[in-house]
Amino acid sequence: MIIETDDLTKTYHMGEVQVHALRGVSTGIEKGEFVGIMGPSGSGKSTFLHLAGLLDNPTSGAIRIGGKEVSVMPREEKARFRLEKMGYVFQDYAIIEDLTVLENVAVPGLGLGLDYHEVMEIASGLVDDVGLGGRAHHLRRELSGGQQQRVAIARALMNSPAIVFADEPCANLDTESSRMILDLFKRLNTEWGQTMVMVSHEPWHEQFFDRVIRFRDGRVDP
Ligand SMILES: Nc1ncnc2c1ncn2[C@@H]1O[C@H](COP(=O)(O)OP(=O)(O)O)[C@@H](O)[C@H]1O
Ligand SMILES: [Mg+2]
Repeated sequence: MIIETDDLTKTYHMGEVQVHALRGVSTGIEKGEFVGIMGPSGSGKSTFLHLAGLLDNPTSGAIRIGGKEVSVMPREEKARFRLEKMGYVFQDYAIIEDLTVLENVAVPGLGLGLDYHEVMEIASGLVDDVGLGGRAHHLRRELSGGQQQRVAIARALMNSPAIVFADEPCANLDTESSRMILDLFKRLNTEWGQTMVMVSHEPWHEQFFDRVIRFRDGRVDP
């Protein structure tokens, strides 16, 4: 198992109100799997993704990534672990406006302090891989939503992550662009063996996943 969770809970406190977003989730994801996290809105999908992706801490329970217990990891090690081992794709693309496509993709590599020319070479290869070779020197405003999301995917792959996490990456895209993104994920998964965890609530996305973990009311639906 590349990701394992034991009785994971997350409770948000909003003033006097407690929201039990996760109520005891024990599940696992194998290396090389393309897993869909599905379920109704508010069922805890994003919360689970954020915890598994080490972007937030659980209220209780354990998470192991590659056999390593995350809760005992010091803050700095966790940050480094995220940068080296994890890639993230969100629904809002988060492309930096003043940087070109190529520079955006290079950012996580430069963040790791790798050699500049090496980073640019890898970034350039990734920009080609996601089908944006002809747009490498364009800025965000010259790109469609689907193209921006492909930049975000190339950026997520920059540091050869063990796991790519995507939270509703097609939420703001039309069907054709969504299909392109899903085809790209599928190709990265089958050709590269990239482990991928993607949240979606669109039933038609299910055909792209190896397996679905279904959430309901903060629990995994058996
Ligand atoms: N930061 C937060 N503060 C308070 N409540 C939150 C927060 N994030 C999520 N929630 C609540 O937790 C529950 C699960 O949310 P979420 O994980 O975003 O569900 P999903 O992604 O399946 O729509 C919902 O009731 C939501 O309102
Ligand atoms: Mg969500």
